[in-house]
Amino acid sequence: MKKSYKKLLINNKKWVSEQLELDPNYFENLAHGQTPEYLWIGCSDSRVPANTITGTDPGEMFVHRNIANMVVHSDMNMLSVLSYAVEVLKVKHIIVCGHYGCGGVIAAMGNKQIGLIDNWLRHIKDVYRYHHKELDQIKDEKQRARRFVEVNVMEQVHDLGKTSIVQNAWKHKQPLHIHGWVYDINDGIIKDLDVTFTCTKDLHKVYHLD
Ligand code: CO
Repeated sequence: MKKSYKKLLINNKKWVSEQLELDPNYFENLAHGQTPEYLWIGCSDSRVPANTITGTDPGEMFVHRNIANMVVHSDMNMLSVLSYAVEVLKVKHIIVCGHYGCGGVIAAMGNKQIGLIDNWLRHIKDVYRYHHKELDQIKDEKQRARRFVEVNVMEQVHDLGKTSIVQNAWKHKQPLHIHGWVYDINDGIIKDLDVTFTCTKDLHKVYHLD
């Protein structure tokens, strides 16, 4: 087996010396702690690296990634990240960023059984069912997949607002905005879906928690 992983360690040493050349205190300063303003919830897809596509540096963005950038209410990993980001780091913005050509979303549109992942994709299928009237009308499969990516992001923004973590922050007047974005892997551009939630009133009243 070719030891391709070795290049990662070589790159790391190169990166360290580059950073130190620019700022001898770079790591010392970062080691003091983090005060990121953003929580990023994105897809695990290797083509959508949060820091690279947003021009942010280490220390600027708290990141959670999973297949198809999902906010699943029983996911302890996501809830722990969300709780720490909102309650301790007090991030000001949460960004759910999907991407066109998302393998998870495309797989969720089909009926082929893949394996364990089917249980995860089921959450994405639920989104399809909520929006099936609009999605079924789009005959072109590629266009339907693109719209599905967008409505999936919108649902995840919604799902964030439904959590007690986000609603408690709003209740305590903590400034916290939730945004829905889609990254286009074809041209690198991020599209803001303009589905920003800033308070409990942005949710249907059945979800309001006193
Ligand atoms: Co994806």
